[in-house]
Order: sequence, then C-alpha cells, then structure tokens
Amino acid sequence: MKKILVTGHNGFIGPLLVKLLTENGYNVVGLDTNYFGHDCELYSQENGIREIVKDIRNVDEKDLEGIDAVCHLAALSNDPLGQLNEDLTYSINYESTVHLAKLAKKAGVKKFVYSSSCSLYGVAGDKALTEEAAFNPVTAYAKSKVLSENAILQLSDKDFCTTSLRNATAYGISPKLRVDLVVNNLVGWALTIGKIKILSDGTPWRPIVHAEDIARAFIAVIEAPAESVNGQAFNVGINSENYQVKDIATIISQIIPDCEIIITGEYGPDSRTYKVNFDKIKNYLPNFIPKWNLTKGVEEIVESYRKNKLDDEKFSGRYFIRLKQLEYLLSNKFVNEKLYWS
Ligand SMILES: NC(=O)c1ccc[n+]([C@@H]2O[C@H](COP(=O)([O-])OP(=O)(O)OC[C@H]3O[C@@H](n4cnc5c(N)ncnc54)[C@H](O)[C@@H]3O)[C@@H](O)[C@H]2O)c1
Repeated sequence: MKKILVTGHNGFIGPLLVKLLTENGYNVVGLDTNYFGHDCELYSQENGIREIVKDIRNVDEKDLEGIDAVCHLAALSNDPLGQLNEDLTYSINYESTVHLAKLAKKAGVKKFVYSSSCSLYGVAGDKALTEEAAFNPVTAYAKSKVLSENAILQLSDKDFCTTSLRNATAYGISPKLRVDLVVNNLVGWALTIGKIKILSDGTPWRPIVHAEDIARAFIAVIEAPAESVNGQAFNVGINSENYQVKDIATIISQIIPDCEIIITGEYGPDSRTYKVNFDKIKNYLPNFIPKWNLTKGVEEIVESYRKNKLDDEKFSGRYFIRLKQLEYLLSNKFVNEKLYWS
C-alpha cells in the first residue's frame, strides 16, 4: 500500500483529498498547523489517519520516512491572505515548499505533487490560457506559486517526479467550508439575505472547479506513469467550466428562485479576468474524470448550507473566511506575528 503525505490536510481541499485517497486504499499521513480548528467546521468528518500537527516551516526528515508521494497543499492560500504579510507568504508558500521538496527528494520520496493555481496567469485577455501562457502574477500569493513551481521543477529527475497542478478557483462543500470563493460566496448571499451581491460589474471570466475534482487530479497524477507527469504542470478544470461571474449568479438564481441579483459595480471592472484551457490534463491524464459541474455543485452547496443551518452570522463570521480567521488568531495572540502558535 502506498503511503502519501498530505500537507494542509485540514484546510478546504485537504479533507476531500484525504477521503478519496483513503477510499482508494492509500495509507495517508496528514500534516497541518491547524489554523482552522474544529470551530471552523461546517460539519465534522473523522479521517482515521495519522496526523502531524506541525508548521510546514519546521518539517524534518522524520516526517518523510517511508513516504512514497507528497501532495503539498499547505499554504496561505488566497490573494487577500497572501497580502496580510507578503514576507510570510514567501516564507510559508515558497521557501517551505522548496525545503519540503528537498527533504522529500533526500528521503527517497518518488512523487511530489504541488498544489499550484491558475492565478499565476494573472491578468489576461479573451483567449483561453494553456500551460504555455506567460506568467503574470499580480499578488504575493500568485508570485509564490510561480517561484515554487520553478524551484520544484529544478529538483525533478528520473528518481524524483514533480508535478504542479494549477487549480482553477475551487467551489463545493468540505468540512472546512470556505465562503471566500466566488460560487460558495454567491450561494451564501442568496440563501442568507435573498440577494446575490456582485461587487464587480459581473463581466470577469473565472475558471471554476469542484474541490473534489481537484482531489481527483492529485490521485490521477499519483497513479500515472512518471514519464507522463514528471516535470509537468497541468491546469486543473474543465473547458466548459469557464464562466463570467454574472452567469454564475444567473445559474444560482435559477436554483434558488426567490433571490435577486445585484451588480453593485463598486470594485469597477475587475481586471482579474481570464479563461483557461484544460485540454492538457485530459490528454495526459485520461484517468482524471471530473464528476462535477456548476449546476450540480450549486445544488450540493444549497442542500448543505440548508442542512447545516448556515445563517448570516456564520456566513459572515471568521469560521469560513481564511483572512478573518487568521486575523482572529493574531488579534487574540493565539499566534504571534510570524503566525507561529504562541
Ligand atoms: N481553494 C482554491 O480555490 C484553490 C485554487 C487554486 C489553488 N489552491 C491551492 O491549493 C492548496 C489548498 O487550498 P485550500 O483551499 O484547501 O486552502 P486552505 O487555506 O483552506 O487550507 C490550507 C491549509 O494549510 C494549512 N497551513 C497554512 N500554513 C501552514 C503552515 N505554515 N504549516 C502547516 N500548515 C499550514 C492551514 O492550516 C490549512 O489547513 C493551497 O496551496 C492553495 O494555494 C487552492
């Protein structure tokens, strides 16, 4: 049985990846500093795995003993969070990634799968971007993804297979819900106040993908022959799942009929607009078969928000918004200014 280390296993995508890996017979070890504790759960889910509660900056050789593959998800993981402290973003997202990948290589780990992001393409025009497109990162978060991808690529060789998965913007339900993601956010507005508030003019394009399908991409890479994934980067998503924000709102309003769409435009025309091409992952990884699309995903989110009684207080509180939770930990001195537990 293969042994997989999943870093960031207690975040949004992590629990879904752990569940799929376990169901597929893998022996999983999780590693997370646990910035998002049980109070940040939409619902609880036992994972039954060995968990290492540790900061990624302090990982050592022992943590990698006997590991066959690493799925590296731990990060300060979105643009606003990355802006909280740019130095910390570089240290946690970039330097620790290099440190972990070097240790993994030394420990004889065979595959290193890195959770990157389509946000490294930054501002782009109307054409759907392939993996060959130029990087144009506009935030510390996106820059940390570019630096990390480049660094782990340097480490790849015939014995150490590295792959970067450039995930589209995720959506969907996980025990550690996030409502700072466009689909999850707009459904939340619709159900809590009956209005879908769009702060841009609604025209920006966003490629979106269900978090569980991101997990499927990790498993597809782990199971693929090394020759087809070594040193490669893949956009993770589906061509038909590029949407303009206003179209996401329209689909939500068809599923939740009594809600009103309000385009406030207060942020002006959002320049972060991009479409992404997902042919490569389909061609290289035929075992990657996504199961979700926006309509199905919105139905899932609506059902879960209702079942778990997501009210306005929980929706706008710290529990499901990464930046608010970290600010809460900082202001109460649960973590110090370097985000180490006090
Ligand atoms: N969610 C998305 O839309 C999306 C899109 C593209 C890429 N990604 C990438 O996928 C990965 C996972 O995303 P997510 O949405 O699950 O993020 P998340 O913020 O929900 O979870 C990240 C996890 O990493 C942990 N972590 C943060 N800093 C750490 C540290 N110093 N040491 C140990 N653990 C630490 C956190 O406690 C958290 O559990 C990230 O690398 C992210 O950049 C996410």
